[in-house]
Amino acid sequence: MKAILCTRFGGPDDLEYADTSDPAPGQGEVVVAVKAAALNFFDTLLIAGKYQLKPPFPFSPAAEFAGVVESVGAGVSGLAAGDRVLGYGGVGAAREKIALSAKRVVKIPDTLDFDRAAGITVIYGTALHALKDRAKLKAGETLAVLGASGGTGLAAIEIGKLMGARAIACASSDEKLAFCRERGADETINYATNDLKDALRKVTGGKGADVIYDPVGGPYAEAALRATAWRGRFLVIGFAAGEIPKIPLNLALLMERDIVGVFWGAFTEHEPQAHQANMADLVRWTAEGKLSAHVHAVYPLKDTPAALKAIAARQVMGKVILRP
Ligand SMILES: NC(=O)c1ccc[n+]([C@@H]2O[C@H](COP(=O)([O-])OP(=O)(O)OC[C@H]3O[C@@H](n4cnc5c(N)ncnc54)[C@H](OP(=O)(O)O)[C@@H]3O)[C@@H](O)[C@H]2O)c1
Repeated sequence: MKAILCTRFGGPDDLEYADTSDPAPGQGEVVVAVKAAALNFFDTLLIAGKYQLKPPFPFSPAAEFAGVVESVGAGVSGLAAGDRVLGYGGVGAAREKIALSAKRVVKIPDTLDFDRAAGITVIYGTALHALKDRAKLKAGETLAVLGASGGTGLAAIEIGKLMGARAIACASSDEKLAFCRERGADETINYATNDLKDALRKVTGGKGADVIYDPVGGPYAEAALRATAWRGRFLVIGFAAGEIPKIPLNLALLMERDIVGVFWGAFTEHEPQAHQANMADLVRWTAEGKLSAHVHAVYPLKDTPAALKAIAARQVMGKVILRP
């Protein structure tokens, strides 16, 4: 079978499109024929050796996928060859077939297409865990999302609206903000052309946002924290801008704000049942059309380097999908 292989840390052009042997299911595993694999921002770090996870070489990027179960190993129940599923392996989906624990796949309804299903798990899983479990977002509260047209940013806008919040999309271009409005954002702030702190205070009538969802970091994090309301919650999601901000702790004291860490991958390990319950909701909501699972572009598997370059160049709105 064909696979994208990372044989040494480097950039997208160092990846190889190569033949490798077909996997066989081990005890408790399934083999899935991948119909669509989804990339995330962290894949750009993973192949460069700059991510917390460093798989042994050779490995394939892409944490998540959708496809059809091809075979099941001993001890697997509730799944059979021919089942349509989505799955999350953390790594390894940029290939024609993947073997992984049956616990890591979820059946999907016929109404959900493979391209949209492939990219649900990480971005919506993170947004739902962050907003529901960590921020305890309440209906009527204001939610400001940075990097709002990106994968997990868009997911936070859509989940926030489902939870009854007033969603403020913050992004670097008017085109990205128009896209966020089409997907439910009530207000928009262009942080490339406006002072983020002042704009957030203005749009919230001086009160500040109740919850900030920050997957970007860099200079935007402190500006947004300074525009967080009394007893607001600032969700630390990621650092797509590259720089991990150093925050003055008096900003937490002054308004009794909470700075709340979110590590979705660890949550899935610590609380698998809560994660599975979240996934059941996310699959249902996507199939019902309540979540867009917007696909920005679909690339043939061999063009994985171009897909990764588009993510790193800040060009993607929603998800990029690889099709073997
Ligand atoms: N904590 C967790 O559990 C968890 C889970 C999933 C993802 N994450 C993290 O969340 C972050 C975003 O992931 P994602 O998949 O949503 O990424 P994405 O789709 O690439 O979106 C990231 C957004 O960040 C903004 N950005 C600002 N500076 C950037 C730069 N130098 N390069 C790229 N983007 C930049 C861009 O929006 P603008 O152009 O509008 O600024 C972009 O839309 C990553 O750091 C990822 O590792 C964390």
